[in-house]
Amino acid sequence: MGMMTEYKRILVTSALPYANGPIHLGHLAGAYLPADIYVRYQRLKKRDVVYICGSDEHGVPITIAAEKKGVSPQEIVDEFHTRNKAAFAKFGMSFDYYGRTSSPVHHRTSQEIFTALHDKGVFIRKSEQQLYDAKVKMFLPDRYVKGECPHCGFGEAYGDQCEKCGSSLSPTELLNPISALTGEKPQLRETEHWYIPLGKLQKQVEEWIATRQGWKANVIGQVKSWLKDGLADRAVTRDLNWGVAVPLPDAEGKVLYVWFDAPIGYISATKEWALQKGDADLWKKYWQNDDTKLVHFIGKDNIVFHCIMFPAMLMAHGNYVLPDNVPANEFLNLEGNKLSTSKNYAVWLEDYAGKFEIDPLRYYLAATAPESKDSDFVWQEYLTRNNSELADILGNFINRTLAFANKQFADKVPVRGDVDALDRDMLETIAQAADKIGAAIETYEFRKALTLFMNVARAANKYFNDQEPWKTVSEKPAKCATTLNICLHACNALAVLMAPFLPFSAVKAWAMMGHETDVHKQAWDDVSHMELQAGYKLGRTEILFRKMEEKEIEPEIARLKTIQAPGSQPPVAEAATETKISLEDLARVQLRVATVVAAEKVEKADKLLKLDIKMGAEQRQIVAGIALTYSPEALIGKKIIVVANLQPAKIRGIESNGMLLAAQDDQGNLSLLGLDRDVNDGAPIR
Ligand code: MF3
Ligand code: ZN
Repeated sequence: MGMMTEYKRILVTSALPYANGPIHLGHLAGAYLPADIYVRYQRLKKRDVVYICGSDEHGVPITIAAEKKGVSPQEIVDEFHTRNKAAFAKFGMSFDYYGRTSSPVHHRTSQEIFTALHDKGVFIRKSEQQLYDAKVKMFLPDRYVKGECPHCGFGEAYGDQCEKCGSSLSPTELLNPISALTGEKPQLRETEHWYIPLGKLQKQVEEWIATRQGWKANVIGQVKSWLKDGLADRAVTRDLNWGVAVPLPDAEGKVLYVWFDAPIGYISATKEWALQKGDADLWKKYWQNDDTKLVHFIGKDNIVFHCIMFPAMLMAHGNYVLPDNVPANEFLNLEGNKLSTSKNYAVWLEDYAGKFEIDPLRYYLAATAPESKDSDFVWQEYLTRNNSELADILGNFINRTLAFANKQFADKVPVRGDVDALDRDMLETIAQAADKIGAAIETYEFRKALTLFMNVARAANKYFNDQEPWKTVSEKPAKCATTLNICLHACNALAVLMAPFLPFSAVKAWAMMGHETDVHKQAWDDVSHMELQAGYKLGRTEILFRKMEEKEIEPEIARLKTIQAPGSQPPVAEAATETKISLEDLARVQLRVATVVAAEKVEKADKLLKLDIKMGAEQRQIVAGIALTYSPEALIGKKIIVVANLQPAKIRGIESNGMLLAAQDDQGNLSLLGLDRDVNDGAPIR
């Protein structure tokens, strides 16, 4: 293995997200977007690559979420499996298979691996005192107990981990533990479990780790520190009724520990992918051959499981490939604070997708990915990157080139004549781009890869400026033709080079270049020498990247500000002294009755409807975010209430002249405000 092996195929995984809540930008930046860029690139390199992900549907986080909502764990995972799978698809995550750990194939696969290890005598069976909640007659593994951290004294540490100092804990280590279910003080009770003897396996793990090359410093650092502390035996079973049943006759009421079964989910999802392909054994080629390059993309909190525990399990089993690399990312913060799901301090994929374009986010996240240290998502920077890089450089270059070709060369590629030094430099830049960008992707340096890509666009934009084709068009038409020929050549290359990072825009740009083929099926290695013949007919131009306005992101920033910044005081005082407004203030808001006369969906924005409304003699257009609750047909003829004197705004490029009023419940469902007697439209509300 290691450098000696010629890899024949690549198996890429992204951490299976817990199906107990929606996906936010922190997840995306950590384990999914980098993997997707990597996989899209490898496909363009024509390599045999399979990309696996899915839902992690077991473990205490799921059962606790279910208890909180008062529903069954199955209901929770069904909901979030569906939602998360759909959200990932919207962001272009190009999984070959998105599985789930509640599937029968997964249960069987996990049990087979457990049984194989058990039969080999790998596990140790131990009886130990564990915390028990007598009120609900339940053992309290992992997050079912809270208490004081023995290392840092933090009062809200969980039974498996202290989120303050990061130490991993076992429930009995907590000082003053209480049950997370009842708040009761737990008792100690004897129970039996199966342990994987990581202590005994440590040497083998160490030897394997020593053969790893090209691992990121943050990953290898964490692994070495675990090894230095000495690995402790870990229980791989739990007393719970949700999970994969322990396949032994004397293990009633016990399930596999979620961190035992979840990574096996990668294997079971590959099996299901193979079944779907009609070749049930195909998965073996990927998992049971040393010439497979296995790469796990994860966030830093998963390092120990992917670099130590799962490899140790597979080593003990003996018949599986181990990861070539685990390019774990650090964490993404948001506007200077830690993301917090429980406080809703996050940007959720579902919410983002209803309001903004996808590629600008992929771009900004790849540009600021927490590759070697934590990084910060800042809305203002997102907007700046979109406007001054995507729109002003990349989009501007492609759009101005095509506009020029349209106007001066009737949408055809002009002849390339004699080349000067600038032309030669530009051609050289294009010829080298694919290899340079590719090399950075191969070594998991996605920020660098993106910078190299943008440098090509930047060089091309500068080349256009320096050659001044708008001048040469009349003075030296042959030179102008050469410039445009080379610019179009650059556009063509950029369309393929952007595909791993900006998959949606790549499709647009490729079509604008007049191609009817799929840009994602092109060959990366062709980029250096793809030629457009003189006379080749270009496609229809559209704006590639729209400039965004401050007011589009203002509500996002404002929302985050109202949420208690993690670690700061709750905004109690603020709520109590909520600003009161005067009658004059109120009078400034003009509310009116309106009738909806026409309604239609806004393309590529699932939440938005465009409405034509009538207010007496006046008719106008508004854009409203109500499409998830109301169909356009249901609205026609309806009387609604609108804020009539709101400043006009452009939403997704569409003019909106006013705002309709609706109530929103905490599920996000809307209910339009109406009237309880019929009133003419145009009537004011006082
Ligand atoms: N569900 C875990 C998390 O979100 C990740 C599981 S990765 C796997 O932290 F390897 F276990 F699948
Ligand atoms: Zn601690």
